[in-house]
Amino acid sequence: MILVTGGAGYIGSHYVLHERARGAELVILDNLSRGHEGAVIDAPLVVGDIGDRTALDDVFGRYSIDAVVHFAAFAYVGESVEQPGRYYRNNVAGTLTLLEAMRDHGVRRFVLSSTCATYGSPQYLPIDERHPQVPINPYGETKVMCERMLAAFERAHGIKHVVLRYFNAAGADPEGRVGESHDPEPHLIPIVLQAAMGTREAVGILGTDYDTADGTCIRDYIHVVDLVAAHSLALDRLRADAPSAVFNLGTETGSSVREVIGACERVTGRTIRTVESPRRPGDPARLVASAARARNELGWQPKFTRLDDILATAWQWEQKKRY
Ligand SMILES: NC(=O)c1ccc[n+]([C@@H]2O[C@H](COP(=O)([O-])OP(=O)(O)OC[C@H]3O[C@@H](n4cnc5c(N)ncnc54)[C@H](O)[C@@H]3O)[C@@H](O)[C@H]2O)c1
Repeated sequence: MILVTGGAGYIGSHYVLHERARGAELVILDNLSRGHEGAVIDAPLVVGDIGDRTALDDVFGRYSIDAVVHFAAFAYVGESVEQPGRYYRNNVAGTLTLLEAMRDHGVRRFVLSSTCATYGSPQYLPIDERHPQVPINPYGETKVMCERMLAAFERAHGIKHVVLRYFNAAGADPEGRVGESHDPEPHLIPIVLQAAMGTREAVGILGTDYDTADGTCIRDYIHVVDLVAAHSLALDRLRADAPSAVFNLGTETGSSVREVIGACERVTGRTIRTVESPRRPGDPARLVASAARARNELGWQPKFTRLDDILATAWQWEQKKRY
């Protein structure tokens, strides 16, 4: 059985549906700080905190868990700059408590949600897994620390792991069962779609003088369904006793903020109002993945390669959101 931390959140809820469709048994641990009870479909939910050792002992004692897929974290760059303590406590201390509980309960397989924010400002593009990790904000720092802890826990306690460094997750379950819902919403695509819906007045473009063709930041948007499929492949790899590994997950294609807005106008058929403002500190101009290693070693292949197709699923969700 798989313990899915953060399974009531955006990406975790999609992962649960993907694994259930493969017939896997899972239990979710989520404190619902950022997730939704309505996002939990077809798996038991334990409402609890990864930093609560008693709650962890209870879950590991009650269920026969052989692997942990760890989504639970705070994940907003701006918030991490303003409230670093919350981030180190939740992401680093929380993950440490979880790893110690795994050690003591004999659970030896771990999949970590990491991020391209661990690379910092790119020294070259596309970014591969060998790129130096020099994060430029506390959020990225916390994920590097989690990665380092994993290496130490493998050496000392034999916990095997796969680290998945996502670029920008986007889109929603094509069947409309789950999707992205954060309040406040920090991610560009839902913000743009809310402006298309009329529930938000305009979209702020933060910086129009970057060294890119249209002056706005470029990111690599990967469909959440493709992202979660890689976790299942990662778990299969761990169960086949392959060595621990690190993989980037992205489409290897960059889209600028203006391109995302233009694509949203195409997909929704609506005009989106924008407001230009100065750059936000800490936003690199371009982040684009090399995902060759995931393709070659995991056999992973993203199915959603066109931004418009990714946006169409997000738009469908935004119009019929259940939570
Ligand atoms: N969304 C992205 O584009 C993106 C990119 C790179 C990495 N990630 C990583 O992927 C993971 C999931 O991200 P998401 O976008 O689904 O975020 P999310 O906020 O939607 O989901 C996180 C879930 O974890 C839960 N949680 C947080 N702290 C917890 C704790 N201490 N104990 C128990 N539950 C806790 C929240 O309630 C929430 O349901 C995170 O680790 C994030 O850092 C996300």
